[in-house]
Amino acid sequence: MSLDTLRDKVRRAEEGGGPERRERQHREGKLTARERVEILLDEGSFEELDQLVEHRCLDFGMADQRVPGDGVVSGYGRIDGRLVYVFAQDFTVFGGSLSETNARKICKVMDLAVDVGAPVIGLNDSGGARIQEGVASLAGYADIFLRNTLASGVVPQISAIMGPCAGGAVYSPAITDFNVMVKDTSCMFVTGPDVIRTVTHEEVTKEELGGAMTHNVKSGVAHFAVDDDRACLALIRELLGYLPSNNLEEAPRQPTDDPPDREEPSLESLVPPDPAKPYDMKRLIAAVVDEGRFLEVHEHFAPNIVVGFARLGGRSVGVVGNQPAHLAGCLDIDASVKGARFVRFCDAFNLPLVTFEDVPGFLPGTGQEYGGIIRHGAKLLYAFAEATVPKITVITRKAYGGAYCVMSSKHLRTDMNYAWPTAEIAVMGPEGAVNVLYRRELQSAADPDALRARRVTEFREKFANPYVATDRGFVDAVIEPRHTREKIIAGLEMARTKRSRNPAKKHGSIPL
Ligand code: HXC
Repeated sequence: MSLDTLRDKVRRAEEGGGPERRERQHREGKLTARERVEILLDEGSFEELDQLVEHRCLDFGMADQRVPGDGVVSGYGRIDGRLVYVFAQDFTVFGGSLSETNARKICKVMDLAVDVGAPVIGLNDSGGARIQEGVASLAGYADIFLRNTLASGVVPQISAIMGPCAGGAVYSPAITDFNVMVKDTSCMFVTGPDVIRTVTHEEVTKEELGGAMTHNVKSGVAHFAVDDDRACLALIRELLGYLPSNNLEEAPRQPTDDPPDREEPSLESLVPPDPAKPYDMKRLIAAVVDEGRFLEVHEHFAPNIVVGFARLGGRSVGVVGNQPAHLAGCLDIDASVKGARFVRFCDAFNLPLVTFEDVPGFLPGTGQEYGGIIRHGAKLLYAFAEATVPKITVITRKAYGGAYCVMSSKHLRTDMNYAWPTAEIAVMGPEGAVNVLYRRELQSAADPDALRARRVTEFREKFANPYVATDRGFVDAVIEPRHTREKIIAGLEMARTKRSRNPAKKHGSIPL
């Protein structure tokens, strides 16, 4: 190949599908694949691989339609100086569809990422399997899915959905750790509106079926919703700042001016005196963590549990909190699955877990029971139990029933379990307990309401406090709310060299 031919190929690779298709991409509010990679990575750090690769399809007139790079821009670069691997599907070239050769390019960066131990970021914008290539393209997807699975728990994998992602193609993002969806321009579905209309006669738009908010609010497939491409790329950079590059490393430390022993008097009045009144767990989290910075994951899904990343004393942690402001903080199916997935991610990547507990129990109802709250709730229990990273729990108010056991209790190898003086630890709430224990007495009482009120007070004094659990050592200490930050940081420091291991096995059988 002459130097001129080479230069011409490089130019064509950089042009992608040509000016018209690039303009169309911009008109639709989307950046091109190359623009996205440039914005995502530290300036000038991108090293492209396989820029001149072309497809090998000779059918359907494809022999005359070749674009060097073949619809995906791939390589490596840096984010805040740290190595990452990236591939960006180029919608201007055959709709970013996946061919045999472009799948090979994606597999190459994934293999390198696992070998070297650096995150993989996939920027998805594609019409799916390249129709002209048939099974060769499907094989390419299967090769990617295998790599997603093998890389899971080894290096962080982040998917951005920045355009269509349909059919079996959705299963690559589904296996990765985080999905970020861009509002209005992205969609994900296994079968689109046309197929649905034919099969089930349902009418649904693309946006309703698989838009960013559908997957953030309803299905939980997506973890973040962002306004546009730039916000998406900025979020990925921020997220990576909390994560280690691989499962053998620790997350980068971020120096902070926030003193580790900072008192937070506002926490003294956070829990309302009436145990039936809600409060916002996110206020507590913001008051405790470094500089109040909390990157919430799955913000719009199952808001009765809050999960996300923060730093304490400069070190990254995963935070899990029941949210009394939604469903009184009850655990339901969605909350259990959301929490379990997050806990397992943190455990896989050496991120300590800080749990704030205020949970009246599992949500009652036939909907929950028929939906399998037993097996879904078990996921959260399993996840906390198998996690060997440092774990700290603070019970702020209710820790009732099975939910007491589940939420990173002492019995699940949690390193420090604290309780605020407002904590209530019991098999169930006082009202429910009195109805069971004193049913006969209440039936025959002259004034059942007065008797019930007396028994509830007795029960509350006996059990609905942290001191019975403290007597047993199930709670290590009752702390003043204002000292929460200091205590957690001290606990994390104490547990930093923790060496818990699970028994040797191929893998467990989590109740999926
Ligand atoms: C080849 C494709 C393509 C595909 C789009 N294009 N999808 N080329 N294979 N799968 C091409 C179009 O021909 C067009 O080429 C260009 O990309 C842009 O497409 P448009 O249709 O003009 O764009 P838009 O109107 O925005 O619609 C986007 C779209 C639509 C919704 C994605 O293109 C579409 O429905 N594509 C087919 C989707 C699909 O059914 N894919 C297979 C899914 S099954 P020109 O030359 O005009 O620019 C699957 C199996 C995976 O993926 C299995 C894994 C297990």
